[in-house]
Amino acid sequence: MERPPIITLDGPAGSGKSTTAREVARRLGFRHLDSGALYRALTFALLSAGIREEEWPLLPQEAFDRFRIWLRPSGPRFQVLLGDRLLEEELRTPEVTARVSPLSALPAVRAWLLEAQRQAGREGALVADGRDMGTVVFPDAEVKIFLTADLKERAFRRFLERQDRRPSEEELEEEARNIRERDERDSSRSVAPLKKAEGAMEVDTSDLTFEAQVGVIINHVKVLTRG
Ligand code: DC
Repeated sequence: MERPPIITLDGPAGSGKSTTAREVARRLGFRHLDSGALYRALTFALLSAGIREEEWPLLPQEAFDRFRIWLRPSGPRFQVLLGDRLLEEELRTPEVTARVSPLSALPAVRAWLLEAQRQAGREGALVADGRDMGTVVFPDAEVKIFLTADLKERAFRRFLERQDRRPSEEELEEEARNIRERDERDSSRSVAPLKKAEGAMEVDTSDLTFEAQVGVIINHVKVLTRG
């Protein structure tokens, strides 16, 4: 029997990939993979081990083995572990967020994390979000989505994720600057740059409610998989 489908969701920072992917997975009874969490876990591990950032580009792939970063299936999601330590809010600190994009541009890092991600999709029934899910990690995925939103809207959402109030105009601009820098780095790197996969459906979420954007994706999945 064919395995159940894999659905990929790629897009720039703050486009709502992870929350959308989680909800799409929940409705379909699939598992959600947040691939950015793996890149964040390695950034956290390198920082915690006191390895200086200047040295990161020089590390061969095998140097990362000592960190034992792995994915544990847990209900509707995959947990990210460092040895037997479960990583959660450690992955979202400003220190990690500021350094994860340059780290993710390193070919040795991408090669090292590839197998863990593919393993997560071995049995299908997966909704995977990131930057290269549809282009590199799961090129044969049954359904591919590319999520976008205006820069200002993405900055606004990112700010609200951290704070319980609306940002001032300056705060919004600063957030937008950070996001734009990260997008430019993620889109211009030579390995697995952020781009729309061939055959992906583009969904601009700037003016969509969360419910509407989840609905558009679920409908597209149903059409493509006749589910
Ligand atoms: O989605 P996120 O903000 O957690 O991603 C963190 C960083 O990891 C982001 O700057 C780009 C990188 N990343 C990547 O290069 N490829 C992925 N599949 C997922 C994330």
